[in-house]
Amino acid sequence: MIRQEQRSEWDGDRALLRPVTLGDLRLPNRVVMAPVTRCRATNDDLAPTDLHAAYYGQRAGAGLIIAEGTWTSERTIGFYPNVPGVYSERQVAAWSRVTHVVHALGGRIVLQLWHAGDPRSDREMTVADIERTIADFGAASENARRAGFDGVEIAANGTHLIARFLNPRLNRRADGHGTRRDRLLFEIVEAAAAAWEGRRLGVRLSPYWTIDDEPSADRRGGDYPWNADERTLADYDALVAELNERPLAYLHLRGPAPRGPVPDVDAFARYRKLFDGPLIANHGFDGETGDAIVEAGIADAVSFARLFIANPDLVGRFALGHETAGSDPDTHYSGGARGYVDYPTWPLGVSAMRSM
Ligand SMILES: Cc1cc2nc3c(=O)[nH]c(=O)nc-3n(C[C@H](O)[C@H](O)[C@H](O)COP(=O)(O)O)c2cc1C
Repeated sequence: MIRQEQRSEWDGDRALLRPVTLGDLRLPNRVVMAPVTRCRATNDDLAPTDLHAAYYGQRAGAGLIIAEGTWTSERTIGFYPNVPGVYSERQVAAWSRVTHVVHALGGRIVLQLWHAGDPRSDREMTVADIERTIADFGAASENARRAGFDGVEIAANGTHLIARFLNPRLNRRADGHGTRRDRLLFEIVEAAAAAWEGRRLGVRLSPYWTIDDEPSADRRGGDYPWNADERTLADYDALVAELNERPLAYLHLRGPAPRGPVPDVDAFARYRKLFDGPLIANHGFDGETGDAIVEAGIADAVSFARLFIANPDLVGRFALGHETAGSDPDTHYSGGARGYVDYPTWPLGVSAMRSM
């Protein structure tokens, strides 16, 4: 499970360790924690617990933490169990404890706002449903601000509600949200941005999504409606160009599923040309390839999901060129404290060293 960092010599100027400003977010390094659903809000309120505070506190060395996808209202809840929300006062109070710890430890943390949509329902959302959804995002964004977050990220990636609206094969609406499939995202961005002064809102997109991104997808019959092609990529080009007009802190891109140890840098370069603001790259990066994409000027920061699950001190390990550990998939979405707050920091096996 241990991956050896290639670069073990001292390098005081690793590109990932240089400070960067994303809108109004000032980061001491470019090592971002990607949002990861961990399903640990095991209480009726769907509120984060002190285990969440400990988990994010352990990772406060990140240039920026993007906290896990969080429900914007009771109506937006998807089929994942024990995912927290940010729509009730109890949840706001509980998240305040998390942001308090991260800030006390010198970190910065934004919250990913998530609407799962309902993949099992073919019922088209009514105009009233859509208006309520937009209002929910606005209220959740305001709640995140009150809970002490430094900003929010809109989850427009994956196969969830906003991405479903963007998808030409799934959005068959005849009204204004069908003729302009990106309208819902822009309305949500506007509502969520209203809670903040300046640029504290990020948008996450996954234009290259294919069946490889969803291992559980049914591969037996029918067309998988999400496979990226030239048409959908052209749609995303237009969308990203328009995002330039919005007050974003950053664009967070999940790139194609890597086919080897090195992510496809050209896939990110496409958006570097289209988007004027800061870009966070994600999917399959490690310290080496993360440095390279920042050094090439294609990304401003890189986000790490699985590496941050398994290496709470990821920034320290990068700084010192130490090896990184792999995460245990069995505890990604369950397991309580196990596989959540018990990944060790370097040096490993301190008790063994005590006897030295
Ligand atoms: C356990 C787990 C949970 C995830 N939850 C989320 C999530 O809540 N929101 C999101 O946008 N992406 C989520 N992702 C996707 C990651 O943010 C990231 O795109 C993916 O793991 C690839 O990055 P990596 O190669 O650094 O792991 C999740 C991934 C994993 C492994």
